Amino acid sequence: MAPASPPPRRKDDFLGRMATGLTAISRGLAFSGLMLAGLGLLAVLIGSVAGLASGVGFVIVGPPWATGRTRMTVLVLMVLALFVVFPLLVTVLLGWTRGLASFTRRLAGQWCGVPIAEPYRPRPRGRGIRRRLAWQLTDPATWRDLLWLTANGTVAWMLAAAPAAMILLGLLGVTRPGGGPVVAVGPLVNGALGTFLFGIALLIAAPLVAPTLLRGYALTARAMLAPSDRGQLARRVEHLSQTRTETLDTGAAEIRRIERDLHDGAQARLVAMGMTLDAAGQLIDENPKAARALLIEARDNSAKALQELRALVRGIHPPVLADRGLADAIRALALDTPLRIHLASDLNGRGRPPAPVESAAYFAVSELIANVTKHARASQAWVDIRHAGGLLKIGVTDDGHGGADPHKGTGLHGIERRLAAFDGVLAIGSPPGGPTSVTMEIPCVLS
Ligand SMILES: Nc1ncnc2c1ncn2[C@@H]1O[C@H](COP(=O)(O)OP(=O)(O)O)[C@@H](O)[C@H]1O
Ligand SMILES: [Mg+2]
Repeated sequence: MAPASPPPRRKDDFLGRMATGLTAISRGLAFSGLMLAGLGLLAVLIGSVAGLASGVGFVIVGPPWATGRTRMTVLVLMVLALFVVFPLLVTVLLGWTRGLASFTRRLAGQWCGVPIAEPYRPRPRGRGIRRRLAWQLTDPATWRDLLWLTANGTVAWMLAAAPAAMILLGLLGVTRPGGGPVVAVGPLVNGALGTFLFGIALLIAAPLVAPTLLRGYALTARAMLAPSDRGQLARRVEHLSQTRTETLDTGAAEIRRIERDLHDGAQARLVAMGMTLDAAGQLIDENPKAARALLIEARDNSAKALQELRALVRGIHPPVLADRGLADAIRALALDTPLRIHLASDLNGRGRPPAPVESAAYFAVSELIANVTKHARASQAWVDIRHAGGLLKIGVTDDGHGGADPHKGTGLHGIERRLAAFDGVLAIGSPPGGPTSVTMEIPCVLS
């Protein structure tokens, strides 16, 4: 047995806590800096709303000195401000507010171990200031951000800044015993020795309490900056109804494609076969040779119909996928492409994802491999399939020139939509020059 490592000595423990505390103090100061930036934003926002309101009032009441033309000019300027400058200013300020709030969320997770999710509604398609402003103003998260800026600027920041204030007070107590602001703390610390000792106590206590106060600050931030339960529910409903519509659309389009393929393919061949057999039946007595040729033609047609039906079935749900599972189906797919494909899978023997997930994953990989063949100029590709933590993770990487962009085609978007129906996501990394790496994650359990 390996010897147990000695328990950490108390001294190291204390020094470690002091070091952690000092880090927390500096982080608290950084949060206070962010608070100042937030206050500045809030002031400009309030100032511009107040400026606009007084401007409008000014025009309505009318400047006493203004006569016809001046008044007209002021009016035009006000209309311009109201409809162009003001919306632009507000949307920019709200954008910065979001940036600041998002930065605080990230830091709360990284520095204080209090992760905060982003609460914003997805940005609608299309551009334009008015659309953007409407999107910002109708999102409750915007108002919660503003509430946070106010709370942060008034009371919340004190939690973050308190340890630094304690250090400052402690230093004053130590360097100016008997005087300075420490005296104000009360009769207990009167006198030179009293303030000196009090200063020392503050200097030691500040780093010890700083991590707790910082965490308290992050928790306060979370109370306002995290998505509210209602907001989360609303976003979930929005997501579900959108993916449901897309799933229905995709399903309907798929059925139309199958119908068309059957109509133009197998059905047409069977009709032709019927006619050929008819003709052969009429010719069989008078001209057995011609009848025989027709029979051969009918047989060829039946083989082709069978081939087409098989291809159609493969496009709906390939038999190898149904029989042997995802990894083997992808292996079979890989054999049909000119690329060298390296497949790694940890699914073998561990069960299979639900059939709809398996099917979505299969078609996604087959689109990605087709992309590598068509667009990447790659010589090799790697497919990696794993299941861990309730997630099916599939990575497809190639050694091509990169530049994959979902906006340039329909395939990647199609995969995204297909995966969204299962709450799955697609991430694409494809810098110019390559390589391209596409990752998919689909929540599911293996059966
Ligand atoms: N593996 C890849 N390597 C390089 N470029 C790619 C790759 N995959 C996709 N692309 C680029 O991204 C675009 C979008 O792909 P996709 O949405 O599948 O559309 P499509 O394949 O129908 O063009 C492609 O047109 C291609 O330019
Ligand atoms: Mg494609």
